[in-house]
Amino acid sequence: MQKNITVIEGDGIGPEVVAQSIKVLDAIANRFNHSFDYKFVLMGAVAIDKTGNPLPQVTLDACMASDAILFGAIGHPKYDNDPSAKVRPEQGLLGLRKALELYANIRPVKAYTALQHLSPLKTENIEGVDLVIYRELTGGIYFGKKEINEANTIAIDECEYSKEEIERITHISFKAAQTRRKKVTLVDKANVLETSRLWRLIVKEIALDYPDVVLDFLFVDNAAMQIILNPKQFDVILTENMFGDIISDEASVISGSLGMLPSASLGNKYALFEPIHGSYPQAAGKDIANPIGSILSAAMLLDYFKMVDEAALIREATNWAITNGYVTKDIDEKNFYFTSTIGDIISEYINNAEHGSVNVDNILLRKSTVI
Ligand code: IPM
Ligand code: MG
Repeated sequence: MQKNITVIEGDGIGPEVVAQSIKVLDAIANRFNHSFDYKFVLMGAVAIDKTGNPLPQVTLDACMASDAILFGAIGHPKYDNDPSAKVRPEQGLLGLRKALELYANIRPVKAYTALQHLSPLKTENIEGVDLVIYRELTGGIYFGKKEINEANTIAIDECEYSKEEIERITHISFKAAQTRRKKVTLVDKANVLETSRLWRLIVKEIALDYPDVVLDFLFVDNAAMQIILNPKQFDVILTENMFGDIISDEASVISGSLGMLPSASLGNKYALFEPIHGSYPQAAGKDIANPIGSILSAAMLLDYFKMVDEAALIREATNWAITNGYVTKDIDEKNFYFTSTIGDIISEYINNAEHGSVNVDNILLRKSTVI
């Protein structure tokens, strides 16, 4: 099958992690006789530097003309530390999510047996965790009216949700629950927020269409605690935009590192795949970032193309690498491998999957002879 993929490397470690995903996708293409064509476009701080615009029109056009989008990371400290900046890299990603109506952000969280001892959480509490966060991505406080007065003494961010916005992601999350352990937990702040009360009303009504799925509710403050205390209770977590942003970083601790978590952002027409982590500027250019979040996002992209065996092989290869200690510095500070080596190892596994292993010595040797 031939597919066109728009690649947005973005900022910081974005280019390094995306390069590994492309290596892995190429290995898949080779093995399964597909052909993936990539078109690279700019977004974020790099786009501001080159064009003055965090989301140039050519980027948007390329995204709309392709079969899927692979995205790296966004953000730069020079904007983070400048609250008065008129344009910000993040506007690129937020603008793209809005323009493509990518309203459903799916963030699976798993505990990896091989990494449990590295998590600050107790192994007995996290082993076997398999949950997925369905985060609404194009509404809420992220996209409400924003204002600051001239004197810089009062600022407003409005949070607004419509029935339709809540309905569409709710249906997707319940359908997902039907294929899993049949439980949806709505995370909100219905004791305080009007928008949360609207979510409850609508989600309760929709739940009647899915009698095989159990629905329960948690206030977000309690959910933040429960994710750490007893994450095994969760199957599908359904939540609004900002709560989903916060609890997904929190939940990544279960997997051992923020760098492990992939995501898919889906709308009715377009789909974008990105790790949940940020641009990690301190690591940029050092070949030390964890590419697994990006590589597993590429696996989600293949699922979206209905290349299910291909996606499964990426996950198998990734598991093999992790289980055998081929991990980056965020996971094992002493015995770590470089970003590019992890990409090589996972691609090599895909090329030789029938052996169920990789001749890592060859990869390391090849690298050392290159150097
Ligand atoms: C994420 C990120 C983004 C968000 C930022 C970079 C705008 O944190 O995808 O979780 O807040 O949605
Ligand atoms: Mg985030």
